Amino acid sequence: MKTAITEMFGIEHPIIQGGMHFVGFAELAAAVSNAGGLGIITGLTQGTPEKLANEIDRCKDMTDKPFGVNLTFLPSLTPPDYPGLVEVIIKAGVKVVETAGRNPQEVLPALKGAGIKVIHKCTSVRHSLKAQDIGCDAVSVDGFECGGHPGEDDIPNFILLPRAADELDIPFVSSGGMADGRSLVASLAMGAEGMNMGTRFIATKEAPVHENVKNAIVAASELDTRLVMRPLRNTERVMTNEAVERLLEKERELGDDLKFEDIIEEVAGVYPRIMMEGDMDAGAWSCGMVAGLIDDIPSCKELIDRTMQQAEDILARMNRMQAG
Ligand SMILES: Cc1cc2nc3c(=O)[nH]c(=O)nc-3n(C[C@H](O)[C@H](O)[C@H](O)COP(=O)(O)O)c2cc1C
Repeated sequence: MKTAITEMFGIEHPIIQGGMHFVGFAELAAAVSNAGGLGIITGLTQGTPEKLANEIDRCKDMTDKPFGVNLTFLPSLTPPDYPGLVEVIIKAGVKVVETAGRNPQEVLPALKGAGIKVIHKCTSVRHSLKAQDIGCDAVSVDGFECGGHPGEDDIPNFILLPRAADELDIPFVSSGGMADGRSLVASLAMGAEGMNMGTRFIATKEAPVHENVKNAIVAASELDTRLVMRPLRNTERVMTNEAVERLLEKERELGDDLKFEDIIEEVAGVYPRIMMEGDMDAGAWSCGMVAGLIDDIPSCKELIDRTMQQAEDILARMNRMQAG
């Protein structure tokens, strides 16, 4: 399939694997890229520019297809070495950067100067327009369904995507709630040029996370995610578990007085324990409502191939309908 996104990123299929903390390592990124999508290494997970350089090298050993690096800008008391990470990305010849969090303006001149395509993840039309204004090449429009940080507007993709299509000149992909060929055709119908998947790619053979995480996603229904940290205006959609229910109880008790320190036990530093050790009650971890559509653990190639086949079948069905 040829779209503005496959052309821009030099990939075969319009499918992107979104950056994911403690999931987006070289094994997953390479598997997605080898299957014709765009795999993405998560920059901040690596820790230092040196470790990111090493991860990029490992990915290059596993694929000769294009892959990207995610740079997430988070409010932080001790900010990561963003200039160092950007330098490593440029030196390594990475072709695509997915930015997320706050406005990526300060890293754009360096990335664009190096010929890197930048896709910024946005949860609203106004942020998407801002990304377009400052020179991003594309946006990933993340609806309320998404795993991770859906923002504070709560607009689901059936509204957000056509709104983005009405306003944007640059290409965009859908993100949040995407699982299969139905998601892809629906995204294209609403004006997107491809789709981004997060949660779906965790439940794949190559995702380098503990089996407990994959099994939890398969076992979960669309009712099993919760929104946490809303009182801090840092809303995150996570899989429910003991720690999450405890966190929500604290939110109810403390109301507007809630501070980050009150929930630090449930959210800080929990990812390695969950993703690596499989301790599923260690804390809050991002997961999308799309878990309700996930009931197996295929390889990335099986997932992408069957997604494209299903999309083709739907388009053929629609053509037959139109022919009458
Ligand atoms: C476990 C997990 C960790 C994530 N970590 C990040 C991250 O570090 N940076 C980022 O930009 N997005 C992150 N995301 C969001 C994904 O890249 C993607 O936008 C989102 O998962 C799309 O929604 P879906 O899960 O419904 O497919 C994360 C998502 C999950 C599920």
